[in-house]
Amino acid sequence: MTDKQSWAPELGVLGTGRMGSRLAAMFAKAGRRVVLGSRDFERASQIVDELGIPTLRAGCYLDAVRAPAILPAVFIRDGLLDLLERYCSSLKSKLLIDISNPFNSDYTDFVTPWDSSGAEELQRRFPQVRVIGAFKNVFWEVFDHPRFGEELSDVLVTGDNEQAKTQFLTLAEGTPFRYLDAGPLIRSRTVERLTFITSSLGQQLNSYPRMNWRLLTQDAA
Ligand SMILES: NC(=O)c1ccc[n+]([C@@H]2O[C@H](COP(=O)([O-])OP(=O)(O)OC[C@H]3O[C@@H](n4cnc5c(N)ncnc54)[C@H](OP(=O)(O)O)[C@@H]3O)[C@@H](O)[C@H]2O)c1
Repeated sequence: MTDKQSWAPELGVLGTGRMGSRLAAMFAKAGRRVVLGSRDFERASQIVDELGIPTLRAGCYLDAVRAPAILPAVFIRDGLLDLLERYCSSLKSKLLIDISNPFNSDYTDFVTPWDSSGAEELQRRFPQVRVIGAFKNVFWEVFDHPRFGEELSDVLVTGDNEQAKTQFLTLAEGTPFRYLDAGPLIRSRTVERLTFITSSLGQQLNSYPRMNWRLLTQDAA
């Protein structure tokens, strides 16, 4: 058996930017076999070498989309939908972990209409995948220091397919967040737009981009 056959990735990340490299590292540190894919293999290779996590390997986008779960970390404004179209034949039945907040280039608005979301646009364009939304509310630097004191902060998870949510939660086991089910995929509209408020509050509180939500709760009487 070749190394390639015996080392089957569980997660493929597309894009080596702020989110992609950190999320790939986070899942790999939790023990998942992860391929970090880039347009430029050398860039992915350099990042993976620097991180030195045994379960993290470098690849191109094609290597990443071959995994059973894929996490594109590319802006919709930069052509995420057309990019995935190129790998259409590899997407059937995959879990697609969508982290997109569909900002325009000056971050003043979204490129999606009010009655949609990045997650819904992806699900509409690629009905052969099972989309779940996650990490949309987490700003990139939070992954460098994910604990706020003793507390884990929240990741709001959306999706229409319960099996896909369970598959995602299994993949995320051991990662330093509390995962909350925020409802069906349509709720991604709210989660994505929440980022406008979070970033503005973070700046007011001199924390940007190191802030995240945790829902405070008390036991019901
Ligand atoms: N930044 C945040 O705090 C944050 C939080 C939550 C969600 N998100 C979402 O995460 C996704 C990625 O955000 P990011 O902040 O990580 O972005 P980023 O730092 O700009 O990285 C995006 C990556 O996309 C890849 N890419 C592919 N085609 C591209 C193109 N035409 N132009 C530019 N880059 C291209 C590049 O990786 P390669 O060159 O390696 O292919 C690039 O490094 C977005 O959907 C964003 O809404 C971001």
